[in-house]
Amino acid sequence: MALQTSRPRRLRKTETLRRLVRETTLSANDFVLPLFIVYGTNIKKPIASMPGHFQISVDKVADECKEILELGIPAVILFGIPETKDNLGTSASDPKGPVQLAIKEIKKHVPELLVITDVCMCEYTSHGHCGVIRNNDVDNDSTLELLSDEAVSHAEAGADMVAPSDMMDGRVRAIRHKLDSRGFREIPIMSYAAKYASAYYGPFRDAAESTPQFGDRRSYQMDPGNTDEALREVALDVAEGADIIMVKPALPYLDIIRRIKDNFNLPIAAYNVSGEFSMIKAAAEKGWIDGDRVMMETLTSIKRAGAGIIITYFAKEAARLLRSTK
Ligand code: PBG
Ligand code: ZN
Repeated sequence: MALQTSRPRRLRKTETLRRLVRETTLSANDFVLPLFIVYGTNIKKPIASMPGHFQISVDKVADECKEILELGIPAVILFGIPETKDNLGTSASDPKGPVQLAIKEIKKHVPELLVITDVCMCEYTSHGHCGVIRNNDVDNDSTLELLSDEAVSHAEAGADMVAPSDMMDGRVRAIRHKLDSRGFREIPIMSYAAKYASAYYGPFRDAAESTPQFGDRRSYQMDPGNTDEALREVALDVAEGADIIMVKPALPYLDIIRRIKDNFNLPIAAYNVSGEFSMIKAAAEKGWIDGDRVMMETLTSIKRAGAGIIITYFAKEAARLLRSTK
């Protein structure tokens, strides 16, 4: 029998050895936690489909953010549920809107925590679409104006970074221009560059109360079958001035993350979206999987694919687990 010279199992023998040769490791530094800020006071309303997550009012946000920072998580991304909605999503740029007030509150009490804001119209429009409706579809160019105004209002409130998630053409350029013209040259843009028309957003739309009232988002979000198109979207956003690019959802699009990683050299974020979270939670609740292990394996897969930043509803749980197993 030939001598067995190659024995990969040699490096798998003990946990210390495995630790030494491990190529991908997670850290709380990798995570961004989404928060849902609702109009009103003294509200902490559980989101049924997302166990452990709540719609919270501005007065509850500082305590929550202290805990997040203590866990070593560097950033949150804010979504707003406003008091009123209309055709044009006017409340998106209200200086007294829930997101704008929450930014101020966080920057006052937990200034170190990075505050990223989701910039989109769907939480603020009565029809639930991500922009202005004209002829039964979202009108691209008139939406750019609203998005830029929203981004500026977040920057004025003190946001550290804005993250447009609408998928309109040219929005990174429009937002960059308006931010610069208002003196916010230093505010980075994390663009949802490759955002797919996904059924995995279901629980989020309950949480953010942003379900479209007619039709769907397929005329602006990407078709799940496409991958070259993701590279074109990223190239456009980079040319328009994006500082960080995002792929969303994460798990069903790990190949897209990897292609982008191999073709571009700026930070890549992946959004481990609500449906990805809820599936794991539901299966774990039923006792069908080990929730903690599936969580860590999932987050590792996203990082291994090439995302250095992971936006995830697991951020606090995963940070706690990383701390306890150190
Ligand atoms: C808004 C937005 C959505 C998500 C983030 N920003 C929903 C959508 O596009 O319908 C989804 C996040 C998640 O599912 O966790 N444009
Ligand atoms: Zn939207």
